[in-house]
Amino acid sequence: MSTDIHKGLAGVVVDNTTISNVVAETNSLTYRGYPVQELAASCTFEEVAYLIWFGELPDAAQLRSFNERTRSQREVSRSTISIIDRLPDNCHPMDMLRTAVSCLGAEDPAEDDNSPQANQAKAEAMFAKLPTIVAHDYRRRQGLDRIAPDTSLGFSENFFHMCFGEVPPKEVVRCFEISMILYAEHSFNASTFTARVVTSTLSDIYSSVTAAIGALKGPLHGGANEAVMHMMLEIDDPAKAAQWLRDQVAAKNKVMGFGHRVYKDADSRVPTMKDAFTTMAELTGGEKWVAMYEELEAEMLSLKGIHPNLDFPAGPAYYLMGFSIPMFTPIFVMSRITGWSAHVIEQLAANALIRPLSAYTGESQREVPAATARL
Ligand code: ACO
Repeated sequence: MSTDIHKGLAGVVVDNTTISNVVAETNSLTYRGYPVQELAASCTFEEVAYLIWFGELPDAAQLRSFNERTRSQREVSRSTISIIDRLPDNCHPMDMLRTAVSCLGAEDPAEDDNSPQANQAKAEAMFAKLPTIVAHDYRRRQGLDRIAPDTSLGFSENFFHMCFGEVPPKEVVRCFEISMILYAEHSFNASTFTARVVTSTLSDIYSSVTAAIGALKGPLHGGANEAVMHMMLEIDDPAKAAQWLRDQVAAKNKVMGFGHRVYKDADSRVPTMKDAFTTMAELTGGEKWVAMYEELEAEMLSLKGIHPNLDFPAGPAYYLMGFSIPMFTPIFVMSRITGWSAHVIEQLAANALIRPLSAYTGESQREVPAATARL
């Protein structure tokens, strides 16, 4: 038996998937065969969610029925809302979300039904309810009344409505939609792999998603979009950005929003999100953040040859849309629920318990000393 260690599973191919393909060599990402930048240019997030789950883009009738089905499930039970309301105001919204998804599972009588049909229904219910949960939590922290979901609005419009009581101009909604499409799926990333590990034990989909939320929270993964904005606010002035970055690199600190385990030659999603971020800056007078982005990007490339990842433009784009920083990673969850749940269903269709080996480097086997010799 080989004892080669693949730290962080780097370069290890764990299983097949038909959901998305990340090709680092050509800097490309496809969902079910479609390039993600083309999907971002012409589809709604609801169409892309359908594609990720069902393998094909919907026709008009399929989209209408999908939208009716999901939009009608946006309300969240009183018991889940009351549990969220009892959480401390200063807990991170990702902690709230982890708890909320756990509640959705606890109150689902079909929680342990792992048939593809049942899991698809649960995935759509989470897709429908997560924005309601995130918006409710955002408002309750400020002492504001909740705003009920509006079934006449699309996914992103409805989210803005529930957070702020109004829908912003369509250009802003479009930038948000683009971020949702880009964040939706990315093969065997850490949170998706976490979901697949939990699923491989034949646990329920809510447990897989709860665990995935925990994995996404970390700053080396989804939490980076928040960290990027904290970093930009700390730098504050584009003229100070290059020196700030040099200091971080000299101190051997990781700079959030840069680098990727798979892409070493630029993240395929960045150009599309950078355009959306630039649009947001033009709409809101936020050009300073674009100038800082460019300073940091150029300096990092020249010092270390490391490119930005999707979180680098997404963080400041969300800031310019008016979201508070702790909402950024929960917003990522609202999108990635599509990819996670598609992977749960795919894992179950050809399941094998995920249980790797380790190379033991601890003490050699020895005898437990008699109690009289120890105490
Ligand atoms: N800042 C500074 N140096 C970096 C960065 C960074 N962001 N990323 C990589 N490096 C350097 C490392 O210090 C290391 O240098 P060394 O060989 O001189 O020691 C080298 O590049 C390789 O880095 P690793 O961390 O070993 O590469 P790995 O593939 O494990 O890391 C990761 C990928 C974790 C994403 C890393 O780039 C990182 O920590 N980035 C910052 C966090 C971040 O932005 N995460 C978001 C990822 S994308 C997403 O979740 C949507």
